[in-house]
Amino acid sequence: MKYIVILGSTGSIGTNTLDIVAKFPDQFRVAGLTAGSNVDKLEEQIRTFKPEAVALSDPKAAETLRARCRGQAVRILSGVEGLSDIARLPRADLVISAIVGGAGLVPTLAAIQAGKQVALANKEPMVMAGRLMQEEARKRGVKIFPVDSEHSAIFQSMEGHRREDIQRLILTASGGPLWDMPLEEMRHVKPKQALKHPNWKMGAKITIDSATLMNKGLEVVEARWLFDIPASQIGVIVHRESIIHSLVEYRDGSVMAQLGLPDMRTPISYAMQYPERLPLGQPPLDLAAIGKFTFHRPDHERFPCLGLGYESLKLGGTMPATLNAANEVAVAAYLEERIGFLDIAAVIRGTMDAHQRREVATLEDALDADRWAREKAGELVRARTLHSA
Ligand SMILES: NC(=O)c1ccc[n+]([C@@H]2O[C@H](COP(=O)([O-])OP(=O)(O)OC[C@H]3O[C@@H](n4cnc5c(N)ncnc54)[C@H](OP(=O)(O)O)[C@@H]3O)[C@@H](O)[C@H]2O)c1
Repeated sequence: MKYIVILGSTGSIGTNTLDIVAKFPDQFRVAGLTAGSNVDKLEEQIRTFKPEAVALSDPKAAETLRARCRGQAVRILSGVEGLSDIARLPRADLVISAIVGGAGLVPTLAAIQAGKQVALANKEPMVMAGRLMQEEARKRGVKIFPVDSEHSAIFQSMEGHRREDIQRLILTASGGPLWDMPLEEMRHVKPKQALKHPNWKMGAKITIDSATLMNKGLEVVEARWLFDIPASQIGVIVHRESIIHSLVEYRDGSVMAQLGLPDMRTPISYAMQYPERLPLGQPPLDLAAIGKFTFHRPDHERFPCLGLGYESLKLGGTMPATLNAANEVAVAAYLEERIGFLDIAAVIRGTMDAHQRREVATLEDALDADRWAREKAGELVRARTLHSA
């Protein structure tokens, strides 16, 4: 029996993880859950999965939940400390890191420092402080299993092979909902349209990141730290069908890939029960029905965010944390229709240009850069909002 904690249990990855727990009750039990402010969903999850403790980052929401759960055997914590306490629960064997954004950094690091195995979906902490997280994991013998479908595919394509034989990691990108749209039309695209991902059902932030290709920029940084491979050996190819989840090229010219239908339960379950593969009851992959796979080079003119991801990695230090924070602010502003779609990249560019890069030696260094970049990006958003008003 494996006891698990889910950080971000009310989100898309969180609920998919709980689907797997419900399907395999002999293998998994829930020790703890966390959310931001979604009281209704967390209350429902408490009733179904009976965790010993939960946390909400919003203290007011935690108060409401306490009132609703009176009489039930569950501890209800709040704030960042509360989330970190759940990540460190003594009973937990595995922590599923599935909060969206930089808010996941402190609790995910707390899990690593407490020696918990981590299944990592929340890519932003790896972007903000990848070196630090890996150093902490190495010190404590913690394994970080990738959940992102691309990184899971790379992880699987590396198994049984020698690291020194790797020539290149090739991340696949779906291209998102706007891949075929001319630049002039992209200027006016509304969130409703940008949120219509062709292949994956995900949370709003990552869906917009897929539309700008920033998701791939973040994944390049994530891959650099997860697999300890320099950016010069990480490539990206657009594969519209999202069946090949990523590839690893070896120095003899062989290329290994992992394929499957686009369903996050496959990489989540692999990370949860590695190296066992759980019988998920997926429909067979009917390649003849799919007919053909297509591939394209990324278009850096219409999708500059991918290049910004590479650039942040090249500049290093606090620059990836700056890129990430500026992106979070810009995406939130876009979803609220305060800026246009193309402004997202412009806000990130402006924030990175204004940033004085420093090394990330401590958690505080990453958090400082995050705070600074959120403020700067907020200013740039306001300037654009005024400009277009
Ligand atoms: N969805 C996918 O298929 C997918 C695939 C690959 C990687 N990922 C990565 O996995 C992570 C989660 O993505 P998602 O699509 O599952 O996101 P989501 O559906 O938006 O869910 C986010 C979760 O984080 C919680 N949360 C939000 N803000 C928080 C805060 N400030 N403090 C604490 N908790 C907070 C939310 O709680 P509330 O419900 O209370 O707001 C929710 O439980 C992201 O880093 C994403 O890039 C996702």
